[in-house]
Formats: sequence, C-alpha cells, structure tokens
Amino acid sequence: MPKTLIVYFSKSGRTKAVAETIAGEISAPLYEIVTEKKYPRTYVMTIIESRKEFKRNEKPALVSPKVEDFASYDRIILGFPIWFWTCPMAVVSWLEQYDFSGKEIYPFCTSGSSSCAKATEKIRELCSGANVHDGIKANTIDSVKIQEWLK
Ligand SMILES: Cc1cc2nc3c(=O)[nH]c(=O)nc-3n(C[C@H](O)[C@H](O)[C@H](O)COP(=O)(O)O)c2cc1C
Repeated sequence: MPKTLIVYFSKSGRTKAVAETIAGEISAPLYEIVTEKKYPRTYVMTIIESRKEFKRNEKPALVSPKVEDFASYDRIILGFPIWFWTCPMAVVSWLEQYDFSGKEIYPFCTSGSSSCAKATEKIRELCSGANVHDGIKANTIDSVKIQEWLK
C-alpha cells in the first residue's frame, strides 16, 4: 500500500467533503491548504479577488505548516475547486514548496461544470519528475469510484 497524503484546498466546503470521503475510504491523513488571507464570504467577491490573483500571477501566502515528512509519501491525492478553469493560486503556492520527483499524484476537483484537464496540465508543469495522473472531476464520490480511480 503506497504511503498516501490527501491534500486539499476548499473555499466553501465541497472539496473538503470529498477529501474527507476519500480519507475515510483509504484511511490516509488529510492536510488542508490554508491561505493567510481570508477570501471574501460571497461568491461574487471571491471571483473578483481571485481574478486579480490570476492576472498578477500572485501566489497567496499560506499559514498551513509545511509537511515535515513529505519525502516519505509515495502518493499525493490533491483536491481543489476549479477557479477560472484551473486550480486556485493557493494550490500553486503549495506545490512550489516541494520536490515531487518520483511521486504519484492523483488530482481531483469539484466545479460548477469545468473539467480537471487544464488544472492537470498546470500540475504537470509544476511537479516535474512526478507521475501526474489525469485529474478527475469528483463533485460526488463513492467507494467504488475511489477504488477504481486509485487502483
Ligand atoms: C473564484 C471562483 C472561480 C470559479 N471558476 C469556475 C470555473 O471556471 N468553472 C467551474 O465549473 N466552476 C467554477 N467555480 C465554481 C467552483 O469550482 C465550485 O463551486 C466548487 O465546487 C467549490 O468548491 P469548494 O466548496 O471546495 O470551494 C468557481 C468558483 C469560484 C469561487
């Protein structure tokens, strides 16, 4: 069984719920990416705020502690909401802290309708040396889907 860490960013709780379901299914630890700044409460204001980040390629500072035993993990399951067809800049901030060489990365997203394709491309660019599997859209997930996905 590969040693697995489930990492997620979630603004309004949907991705968190999926990450928790996965953690329950495979008994792996959960790690939340938390930004120093708080995104606005409303959807529209979050759109405005995060659009600025994308335009400026601004990577928000994180307050979640660095994963100390990162090198010991074989597999990273990485979840996030789709923001502007890709992963939020907070995920970029997190990815840039680590060396992913030799790791298996399984991205998943939740979204209104967009797929995980563009985000997967970005993760592949940022995680050279890792085997980044095709990301899945997982607005809902169950035991069968999880087992099929990770086998
Ligand atoms: C800033 C922002 C940008 C978004 N951009 C997209 C998008 O490009 N495509 C899409 O299908 N959904 C988009 N959404 C919807 C979210 O991906 C969706 O609501 C997600 O499930 C929220 O997950 P969370 O509760 O974990 O934050 C966007 C939401 C926000 C707040």
